[in-house]
Amino acid sequence: MTAPRKIIIDTDPGQDDAVAILLALASPDELDVLGLVAVAGNVPLALTEANARKVCEVAGRPDVKVFAGCDRPIAQPLLTAEHVHGATGLDGIDLPAPTMPLQAQHGVDFIIDTLRAEPPGTVTLCTLGALTNVATAFARAPDVVGRVAELVMMGGAYFEVGNITPAAEFNIYVDPEAAAAVFASGVKITVASLDVSHKALTSRDWVAGMRALGTRVGEVVAAWTDFFERFDTAKYGSEGAPLHDPLVIAWLLRPDLFTGRQVNVEIELEGRFTRGMTVADWWGVSGRAANAFWLGGLDRDGFYALLSERLARL
Ligand code: BDR
Ligand code: CA
Repeated sequence: MTAPRKIIIDTDPGQDDAVAILLALASPDELDVLGLVAVAGNVPLALTEANARKVCEVAGRPDVKVFAGCDRPIAQPLLTAEHVHGATGLDGIDLPAPTMPLQAQHGVDFIIDTLRAEPPGTVTLCTLGALTNVATAFARAPDVVGRVAELVMMGGAYFEVGNITPAAEFNIYVDPEAAAAVFASGVKITVASLDVSHKALTSRDWVAGMRALGTRVGEVVAAWTDFFERFDTAKYGSEGAPLHDPLVIAWLLRPDLFTGRQVNVEIELEGRFTRGMTVADWWGVSGRAANAFWLGGLDRDGFYALLSERLARL
């Protein structure tokens, strides 16, 4: 058996971030979670770092290292999404204040030190929020860029257009300068955008299945899903809600569930109506070099079966 892949999860929990973290922690044979780094996004940093710790405690993993990273984007004020995730970021069920510690080290320093300490090409960065921490690490320590195995992100939208502006997806829009730096870095990138996450809609049966697990994790995941489904079904008119962030972890576990294409992606920084847009050259018409693998297709039922099977382990 091959050794589990070492990952750092950079996150702004967020109910869907929380499910992604649970999926990773439920998969120790394949994934070794070196640490969670919180970033400001869905809610301010003080909440995202506390939420990351709450999620670890729900998973029965108070040993996981959780760090606080950047509290604001590189070049603009923080935009949050309480309208989607609730005032706590994890609305849907009351969770106790975490008792496990927050690591003293800044999350950006943790990313830098880990990439320097581990053998080159062995640490995968999984980003579930704005790219502020990663871009800051790359700017502060350019030597670590070439040591990243790969980066798998939830962010962006092309065929599905935006969810926070008509053109931009939330994670990219929160910190477009950070996204632009990461896409220009030369790191191997895989993108789970709205194009694929809008194919990952929850269903009533799946939520009922979570509840029927009879475990704390099942109860909590069902409650979170019930909460954010209310917003998304009102917005999209669909029956379920897209579970965006767990796709990043699912890609690492089961790439066979996805299809995609190697494309050039540029981040629009100046557009009057399109700032934060991920301009994905799907048809290769720009002549610009490909810099990312853009996921497009998903075996939706396979994805939810994977989630059910893994979350039942916790
Ligand atoms: C992304 O934005 C956040 O609100 C979610 O957690 C997800 O990472 C979807 O656009
Ligand atoms: Ca997120």
